[in-house]
Amino acid sequence: MLLFSARRLHKPSRVPDTIANCKLREVYRVSSSLDSHTSQTWGGRFNEATDAFVQEFTASYSFDHILAHYDVQGSRAHADMLAACGILSSADLEDIHRGLDQVLTEIDADEFTWQVELEDVHMNIEARLTEIIGDAGKRLHTGRSRNDQVATDIRLYLRAAIASIRGQLTRLRTGLIDQAECYADTVMPGFTHLQVAQPVTFGHHLLAWNEMLARDDGRLADCAERMNLSPLGAAALAGTSYPINRHMTAEALGFSAPTENSLDSVSDRDFAIEFTAAAAITMMHLSRMAEEMIIWTSAQFAFVDLPDRFCTGSSIMPQKKNPDVPELIRGKAGRVQGHLVALITLMKGQPLAYNKDNQEDKEPLFDAVKTLHDSLLAFADLVPAMKAKPEAMRRAASLGHPTATDLADYLVRKGVAFRDAHEVVGTAVGMAETKGIDVGELSLEDLQALSALIEHDVFEVLTLEGSVAARDHIGGTAPKQVRAAVQRARAKLNTA
Ligand code: ARG
Repeated sequence: MLLFSARRLHKPSRVPDTIANCKLREVYRVSSSLDSHTSQTWGGRFNEATDAFVQEFTASYSFDHILAHYDVQGSRAHADMLAACGILSSADLEDIHRGLDQVLTEIDADEFTWQVELEDVHMNIEARLTEIIGDAGKRLHTGRSRNDQVATDIRLYLRAAIASIRGQLTRLRTGLIDQAECYADTVMPGFTHLQVAQPVTFGHHLLAWNEMLARDDGRLADCAERMNLSPLGAAALAGTSYPINRHMTAEALGFSAPTENSLDSVSDRDFAIEFTAAAAITMMHLSRMAEEMIIWTSAQFAFVDLPDRFCTGSSIMPQKKNPDVPELIRGKAGRVQGHLVALITLMKGQPLAYNKDNQEDKEPLFDAVKTLHDSLLAFADLVPAMKAKPEAMRRAASLGHPTATDLADYLVRKGVAFRDAHEVVGTAVGMAETKGIDVGELSLEDLQALSALIEHDVFEVLTLEGSVAARDHIGGTAPKQVRAAVQRARAKLNTA
């Protein structure tokens, strides 16, 4: 049930495109002023109908309708518990299940009439349920409030969302690890300051991305575990006077336990913030990967080729093939970062317990879920199709004296102190620059003029292959180590 995925998300039939749209506002004013006083579920203590604009302004059904399945799931568990505890008759319970079935069928078929007077997903569903089954529908809300209801719904939604996101993360990591194995021997330049530093293998570079994503997966798993507690039964803020059984609903909904404190239960949105923080970090990682792909596909680098299906052309420059997918993902990282700031600021300074501010948690959270999910999906499809161009990588790795450090290490092995070796190699680089060649291309004579300790075997360490093979320890770039790291990464993926 991918309710947060764009492709499955259906709009309710009466969603205003924008509140600023005056025409729509007029429509709402007319339709809602007819009977809003009587149709609102809390209308009893009010003497005048809510202002039509205020109704639109305070309503959330246009975005929280995606919680519908979770809302019904929570309602079913709540009703079962009420019946088991003798608070609801079995006839009412049967009607409630039957009515909720019909409500969901209508919602899924896009035949449900969402009403702005009914504010949110919870009241829209309850009102329709009551329309279908009569008074039993009104009894469903016994011992519960929208405050614990919405807190439960979001947790159920986010739990499913995290599971699906982790699925995409696993697909992406599987692709990265497979590619790393395939390119374990492929030499490319390693950069610091985006200047050629030392040669590395492409497999090693791809496994660096996998490490970032492995930490992201750990953060998501951690967040999912901490939030898997049931707020249901906290009611409005203080609990309820009915003899409910919170353990029963927690278990029925797959939560590990009920939450401890009713005030905290209805006001806590840490889980949304934690998730969005993990999402923002993951998107930051994706943006780093995206940036490298963008650089690598430029004509100046030409390290990789992205399949045409992930790129677009230019309407004016026929030669262009733009890496749109990585560019968009790089851009989308910004909006998830924004959502994190929005959510943490939303909660700052809020007094206990529930405040209407909390309704503002949904749009940033939903968008963070969808953005992260879809970005991972796109990269999970793209990464296995990415083709390296080993000759271009090799050519670039030979520029900028990438084996200079290897020459210094060689001298250290011959007994020279590292700082002195650094000095000698600096002179060698200067000499090579003057000659317009790479330090690895200097003659033995030239090198021996700088240090008598240098012998013919120096040329073994000055090759790109010699350089990468020498980094032969855990975490190093040697092809042998990359292959071992691939095995460990796969094992970790399979046990996660
Ligand atoms: N739509 C509301 C929200 O998202 C549901 C809870 C409303 N509770 C209330 N007491 N007004 O937060």
